[in-house]
Amino acid sequence: MDLYSDVLVIGNGVAGMFAALNIDKKYKVILISKTKADDCNTYLAQGGISKAKNKDDIDLFVEDTMKAGKGKNKIEAVRVLAEESIKNIDILMELGMEFDKDGEDFDYTREGAHTINRIVHSADVTGKRVFETLFKEVEKRENIILYENTTLVDILKYEGMCAGGVVIKENQVHTIHSKFTILATGGIGGLFNNSTNRRCMTGDGIAIAIKNNIKLSNLNYIQFHPTALYERGSEDRKFLISESLRGEGAHLVNKNKKRFVDELLPRDVVANRIWEEEKNTNSKCVYLDISHMENKFIKSRFPGIYNGCKKRGLDITQKPIPVTPVQHYFMGGIDVDLNSKTSMENLYACGEVSCTGVHGANRLASNSLLEGLVFSRRAALDINKKIDKTSMINLKHKLEIEEAKSIEETNLKYVLDTFAKALGDKKNELINS
Ligand code: SIN
Repeated sequence: MDLYSDVLVIGNGVAGMFAALNIDKKYKVILISKTKADDCNTYLAQGGISKAKNKDDIDLFVEDTMKAGKGKNKIEAVRVLAEESIKNIDILMELGMEFDKDGEDFDYTREGAHTINRIVHSADVTGKRVFETLFKEVEKRENIILYENTTLVDILKYEGMCAGGVVIKENQVHTIHSKFTILATGGIGGLFNNSTNRRCMTGDGIAIAIKNNIKLSNLNYIQFHPTALYERGSEDRKFLISESLRGEGAHLVNKNKKRFVDELLPRDVVANRIWEEEKNTNSKCVYLDISHMENKFIKSRFPGIYNGCKKRGLDITQKPIPVTPVQHYFMGGIDVDLNSKTSMENLYACGEVSCTGVHGANRLASNSLLEGLVFSRRAALDINKKIDKTSMINLKHKLEIEEAKSIEETNLKYVLDTFAKALGDKKNELINS
């Protein structure tokens, strides 16, 4: 079947939904989600969203982001991120998002490598609340049509321009013609044996970029989160134990109950120290201990983690949590400019699939939802400016279902091969390695 939209958005996390919501209401948007709408990484985010506390904090926020990123960040993008953080959090609140408060002000929390407390949060379920806020709005908007359980297998290309996408939906191939396309397909954690990501996050946008010679950057910038719950033998995604526990005073200890690292150093430093400690003590994990803090505080500040661990038989108010580093985030991706435009005409990318350069070689904690908001809105505003001057290409295209499925399989092979090269001696972290 042939479908038509002004803008096609692939991916239903914070970046995809916020992009769709910022497209002018007079344009038709088709938003597609690979599985169920809430099956996205946004839903899982625990820590919160970084934000400059006020105008005077912008320079320090930029500095912290650059330091964590080892100076490999794109400074112009980092400045945009910090400068537009306040405005984007305001927009999110206008849409109904509620953050925890301390009196009149936000209850700012802290995570590794932030010099000050500047993370706004909703208990430890910020991502779920952001998802629900945006999803409610998407459902209300008459110009946005959402297709769930719909997989992108390729983009449509005509004379170097993107003209839409080819998708599989209910075992049928559909061609979606659009003036502009936004890839917001998320991360790559589903390619790893151990990751905090949803298993469906298999780098679909990256595969499509590789095939279509769209410029990619920093494929080796892959972040391991220091503290995921260690569960022996489980093949599911790993349960994240938010860095904000450390921000609020939890300690990392080895199996001999000894602290061995400053818990608030950048993520990569803490993850490396944990691996070293595991090796030195011949253990598969270390422990994150918050049991010295008040029960009431732990349960109200970290209800998601408290209940998630309780379900697995662990009371974190009483016992230390076994943790180990696992894949968490991809800082590289489809190279984009400050308006999230890729190297292909009429094609944008935002969220984790894109590489704006804000994170450098190591993302500062809680900068991912913020990047999703700031740069997806920029993409939408840029498209709004151009859309009336852009025509629909309406490319003739026909693909049988078997052919489309075989392309889908090849996509997976492309990304696995690409990341095996990028990971070097860590390539055995990948599935089927
Ligand atoms: C966390 O809560 O530790 C994760 C937040 C992030 O990935 O920035």
